[in-house]
Amino acid sequence: MVTKTVTATNFINVFIADPLSEDGIFPLRQETELNLNVVIETGLTPEQLIARIEDVHVLLVRSQTKVTREIIAAAKNLKLIGRAGVGVDNIDLAAATEHGVIVVNAPDGNTNSAAEHTIAMMTSLARHIPQAYNALKNGVWDRKSYVGVELKNKTLGVVGFGRIGTEVAFRAKGQRMNVIAYDPFLTEERAKELGITKGTVDEVVQAADFITVHTPLLPETRNLINKDKFAIMKNDVRIINCARGGIIDEEDLYNAIVEGKVAGAALDVFVEEPATNHKLLTLPQVIATPHLGASTIEAQESVAVDVSNDIIKFFKTGTVTNP
Ligand code: NAD
Ligand code: MLT
Repeated sequence: MVTKTVTATNFINVFIADPLSEDGIFPLRQETELNLNVVIETGLTPEQLIARIEDVHVLLVRSQTKVTREIIAAAKNLKLIGRAGVGVDNIDLAAATEHGVIVVNAPDGNTNSAAEHTIAMMTSLARHIPQAYNALKNGVWDRKSYVGVELKNKTLGVVGFGRIGTEVAFRAKGQRMNVIAYDPFLTEERAKELGITKGTVDEVVQAADFITVHTPLLPETRNLINKDKFAIMKNDVRIINCARGGIIDEEDLYNAIVEGKVAGAALDVFVEEPATNHKLLTLPQVIATPHLGASTIEAQESVAVDVSNDIIKFFKTGTVTNP
């Protein structure tokens, strides 16, 4: 989609490369002191983006656009990359630092939506809701194949107890689940205060009936949940990933489901996205959504407002809130 072309050179050129909430970028639209030239061009190939980026001062993205070293090198006037969301794994941070480009994200705006989506996925997984829905839509009234399990009194293992992991735990306790969590920054005192158990990764995956991951994708968390971890899990464990593809080893998850160790998985994210032809999606035990964790009206508005305000703050004061 193209709405306007960059022509002015005395403007601060803000280039929006992924679809963002129009209400969320309202602060940029109504800003009058800074001479912002806001351009929206989504769905560009890397080559098209490189060809368009030389005059750009601010590049604003969600997760679709991969802000590579090549793109950053071609962006000769780039001062700031804004990420309307949490994960900055689609941005080459090392290249940005080398080129003196600041990266800001919106760490809080989609926490609630991502936590709600995680609970929706866990419940859907426990009760086979997508599979039963599909069957019924195809005219099949099948009550026998879709006997589920309750959440009450089950143990939820949370790996990564930051903003979203914590919100998921609150909601799981509302479902009367027991919660055990691992996070390098989770203290005994905090765990006690929240009424949950603190464990190591191994203790968490061993104890859990449901396991949900909420870490960033980092070298240390890539394939954190792999065949060694599946081997020590309970039989019929159920796995949820609404964080990042690659935290769970996809091949090992596939094998663990086929071997009958894992009863099912609910996946919102994949190593390669879009994941329309993924091997895991061929398994009836796998339910999935196309990276919808933050896709609510509220979250999209909130993250776009946060990052828009940070852009304005940067050009007015030289500082940002979430570097
Ligand atoms: P956060 O930074 O608040 O929390 C992440 C937590 O992971 C931190 O507490 C950190 O200490 C912990 N952590 C880091 N390394 C770890 C390790 N090796 N083992 C265990 N824990 C580790 O982030 P958040 O807002 O809670 O987001 C969590 C994840 O969800 C991110 O990957 C983010 O990109 C993703 N996310 C996905 C969607 C979606 O649309 N599906 C939406 C929002 C966020
Ligand atoms: C995030 O990290 O914030 C999520 O992946 C949501 C997104 O921007 O798509």
